[in-house]
Amino acid sequence: MYRDRRAGEVRGRVGEGVLDAAFGRRDGALHCEDVSAERIARDVGTPTFVYSAGVIRERYRRLSSALSGIPHRLHFTAKANSNRAVLRLLRELGAGVDVVSGGELFRAQQAGFAGRDILLGGVGKNALELREAVLAGVKLINVESLAELELLSSIAQELGTTAAVGLRINPEVLVETPHAYIATGAKGHKFGIPWDDAMHCAQAALRLPGIELAALDMHLGSQLATVEPYRLGAERIAELAARVTTAGAQLRYVDVGGGLPVSYQSGDPEPDLEGYAAIVGALARETGTELLVEPGRFFVAASGVMLARVLYRKHSGGKDYAIVDAGMNDLLRPSHYDAYHQIDAVRPNGTTARLDVVGPVCESGDFLALDREMDDVSPGDLIAVHTAGAYGYVMGSTYNARPRPAEVLVDGPRYAVVTAREQYADLVRLEQSDPVWSDASC
Ligand SMILES: Cc1ncc(COP(=O)(O)O)c(C=O)c1O
Repeated sequence: MYRDRRAGEVRGRVGEGVLDAAFGRRDGALHCEDVSAERIARDVGTPTFVYSAGVIRERYRRLSSALSGIPHRLHFTAKANSNRAVLRLLRELGAGVDVVSGGELFRAQQAGFAGRDILLGGVGKNALELREAVLAGVKLINVESLAELELLSSIAQELGTTAAVGLRINPEVLVETPHAYIATGAKGHKFGIPWDDAMHCAQAALRLPGIELAALDMHLGSQLATVEPYRLGAERIAELAARVTTAGAQLRYVDVGGGLPVSYQSGDPEPDLEGYAAIVGALARETGTELLVEPGRFFVAASGVMLARVLYRKHSGGKDYAIVDAGMNDLLRPSHYDAYHQIDAVRPNGTTARLDVVGPVCESGDFLALDREMDDVSPGDLIAVHTAGAYGYVMGSTYNARPRPAEVLVDGPRYAVVTAREQYADLVRLEQSDPVWSDASC
């Protein structure tokens, strides 16, 4: 059934206060820390993702200090932003990393993470990825089914080692998320071991050679508005921990996943870090284990903006459009999740307009904002799409053969291009200009 995504768009202008102080105006123009957005756009072009190192540091320290007193490690979820410069920054702060594929494991290693700093998760890890993780000596592999556990057991045996395993449990907690696609811990979701099978899987983990049952894990969803789901999930994990301990397990960790919320617009929930720490701290105490946390969005979303340039204005069907040089291939969240990102002119002219901000991609679903009261903009103006540091560049594609944007990291008065803009030649780099045909008939 066709669903009109436009109905999901939140209307109206965003109030003040949702943006991090790192993104302020000087002489009327947006800066990231001490670097002007206009300067970056002039030097690097558009579209470009710009991240503030200061915001990432502040976010890391804020969560770290909320959990002080609880034995814990923060493992940044690389899927939110796997740029190696961002990973390196978090590693230097003391973070571990949480990866969900062989590619992310490779990136993490390239960013200097050692095996002991890495968690591997994911619902569909293949044999090669499991093997790579065992060889890397990762701290924990969170498995999501009995079949995966058995495969991992045979791989570990073959390699003559023991893999530390966490069981990702689906605690079957209904969570309220802004979009159904970011809820993961309710009954029937593809993620995790169904609650009713959890004890059976744990017994298998205790029995199987090459496996150490070291942890219980959950991840309930993203952008969780309250801490209540954590309380319900923690109750289930604690209950299961008691049962598996009686059955002979010596758990070393409880992993509570990610999910802390970020403000994209006024009215969005602020994370209750005190309430969160009380719940997850009690779980760690009760189970006598170290707490593992997998924050993604919380560390990086507010650190980033996507800069784009207005190409054209158009009036059609009673609506005003700003057609910009960034589209759904660069920032998929508005189209895929009906997600709201505040959009401002980099240098506002003091007037506002009600606009659809759309990209160049040949899809009606290619938009960054719909029916949005925002700074009025003209062709040539720069816009900033805010809170784009998480699930931004990483979800991009080259659809319509659009080269991927650049990524820039800002630190005080300095900035560096940490990912160069893709070039046309990159688009065909892996294609074979003279393919070699194999005759499959013999
Ligand atoms: C297993 C797991 N852990 C952590 C995260 C990070 O979630 P968030 O970015 O909401 O913190 C995700 C996100 O999808 C996830 O699937």
